[in-house]
Amino acid sequence: MNHGKIIPMSKRLIIGNWKMNPGTPEEAKKLVRKTKRAALGLVKTEIVVCPPFPFLTACVPRKKEANFKVGAQSVSAEEGVGARTGEVSATMVRAIGAEYAIVGHSEQRKVGESGNSDTDETVSKRLNAALNAGLVVILCVGEKARDENGTYLEELKNQIKNSLLNTPKKFASKIIIAYEPVWAIGAQEAMNSEQIYETSIFVRKIFADVFGADNGLKAKVLYGGAVNFRNAYEIMTVGKVDGLLVGRESVNAPGFVELIKAVDKITA
Ligand code: PGA
Repeated sequence: MNHGKIIPMSKRLIIGNWKMNPGTPEEAKKLVRKTKRAALGLVKTEIVVCPPFPFLTACVPRKKEANFKVGAQSVSAEEGVGARTGEVSATMVRAIGAEYAIVGHSEQRKVGESGNSDTDETVSKRLNAALNAGLVVILCVGEKARDENGTYLEELKNQIKNSLLNTPKKFASKIIIAYEPVWAIGAQEAMNSEQIYETSIFVRKIFADVFGADNGLKAKVLYGGAVNFRNAYEIMTVGKVDGLLVGRESVNAPGFVELIKAVDKITA
């Protein structure tokens, strides 16, 4: 029975993936200050920024900020502490007050670059390490190319299923899926919004296959790849996603502020 209680709508989520930017802590602080200020007045939207590791501490707010949180761009597959040169564990990230972690970004999956080359198996380990440490995970998935016979759907399905293979169902509400077609990342144009809509439904269905229909319905599915302040509104409304994962535009303060405002303004 409805007792007249208003059930709060789940907020839209905009994640700023700063990648290997900016160059100095001063610039990072400036960028985070501007982003926080824009987040302050939001009604339906929450912002998460993911700076490079050296700037994480400086970007984590000292007190709780309205609609603003901080995440890491990756975490080690190993939990806790140990002999892992160059690695940063999810436990450490959580200990300094960050609340989110991106895992499985295509730039980390890419073979041969910066010594990373993540596979579904390492992505799954990183994901579980992050969840065990109490972080919310942004799991990136996306096909390398589109083809007419739909093998990209198989590629997507395998990425999602394999990444979640060893994850207990109790963590389902702590996983956000960011659908990022690899070919749209860093590109001039985003994927068209009708295709975003179709693919996000598919992604949600696979998530539901893994964690059950109820969790599938509740899951947040984001889109990423060439999102900017001009196309954000259309991607959100026509693509009907729950939020956006933004690269380049998230380190361009004026553009990111515009983008945030455009998304928050959407009615419905
Ligand atoms: P882009 O990057 O917005 O610069 O295309 C998106 C991403 O890689 O997450």
